[in-house]
Amino acid sequence: MQEKINLLVKKAIEELNHTKDMNELMLLKSKFLGKKSEFNQFMQEIKNLPNEEKPKVGQMVNLAKNEISQKINEVKRQIEEEQILNQLKKETIDISLPGKKFPLGKKHVITQTIEEIEDIFIGLGYEIKEGPEQEQDLYNFEMLNLPKDHPARDMQDSLYISEDTLLRTHTSPVQVRTLLEYVGKKPVKIIAPGRVYRKDDDDQTHSHQFHQVEALVVDKKTSLSDLKGTLLIAAQKLFGSERQIRLRPSYFPFTEPSVEVDVSCYVCSGKGCSMCKETGWIEILGAGMVNNNVLKAAGYDPDLYQGFAIGFGVERIAMLKLGIDDIRNLYTNDLRFNSQF
Ligand code: DAH
Repeated sequence: MQEKINLLVKKAIEELNHTKDMNELMLLKSKFLGKKSEFNQFMQEIKNLPNEEKPKVGQMVNLAKNEISQKINEVKRQIEEEQILNQLKKETIDISLPGKKFPLGKKHVITQTIEEIEDIFIGLGYEIKEGPEQEQDLYNFEMLNLPKDHPARDMQDSLYISEDTLLRTHTSPVQVRTLLEYVGKKPVKIIAPGRVYRKDDDDQTHSHQFHQVEALVVDKKTSLSDLKGTLLIAAQKLFGSERQIRLRPSYFPFTEPSVEVDVSCYVCSGKGCSMCKETGWIEILGAGMVNNNVLKAAGYDPDLYQGFAIGFGVERIAMLKLGIDDIRNLYTNDLRFNSQF
């Protein structure tokens, strides 16, 4: 009997040693310790033994069962530990792997430039005003000292919708709208950013749709030196604090006198290079003192009120600042282009 039991224990331990899997372990458990196991048969046999042998054999069987139970528990623990290790291995984060980049969007160059100009003027106490893109001829031209048949209307090729409405050719009509709104109420100190339209063929430097920011100040005792100081601040903020400006006489119907504003070349600092065509100066925008006819049309007495206006071409400023040589790049929305700025 002893031998049989020893053999069985040996066999059980051997099989248990090879077990790698919980299901298999459970099967072995019932095979060696379950109701139909050989051990159970031994227990049955004990009944038939002579009384004096029963306790001895019983003890032997119990010891053997304990030994197998312990082994089963040991193997069970090993399998569980291995399962946890495997799980951990699967869930480990490999910090050396390249991360997944979340593709973040970015403001377009034109938006960036408009906001840059806005920030400069907000810092000087200006208010932002907007007007409609479909505009009345009255505000786009007539009240800006451009009556019908005025030859200067040819300076801007216009897209008319009806006889009296057109897609605005500039942001200057917002001047008129604001003057009419504020007359007799408060001084005017505004900028008007927005889209404008021209009947132009698109090429490297022209687009049928582009952006402007208009600045307008109308108050008592506003002078050309206020305009010049404002232009200098704007030019230095946009092109660098070392820059100087130069005003050249020009013509716009809505300003008198009118000026063309140049900034000292930010590439060669004014010495002369290909950027400034060896002149040391780069033309950036147009400006002037508000024409008396514009003031009068909006109900202001030009003997009491004066004003100045500035017209920024957003694309021009962006292209100069960033060295962009084809305006069409600003509209194709090619991410390879946009992401450079
Ligand atoms: N409105 C002009 C244009 O589109 C630009 C301009 C020039 C605006 C001079 C102004 C100004 O306010 O004073 O060509």
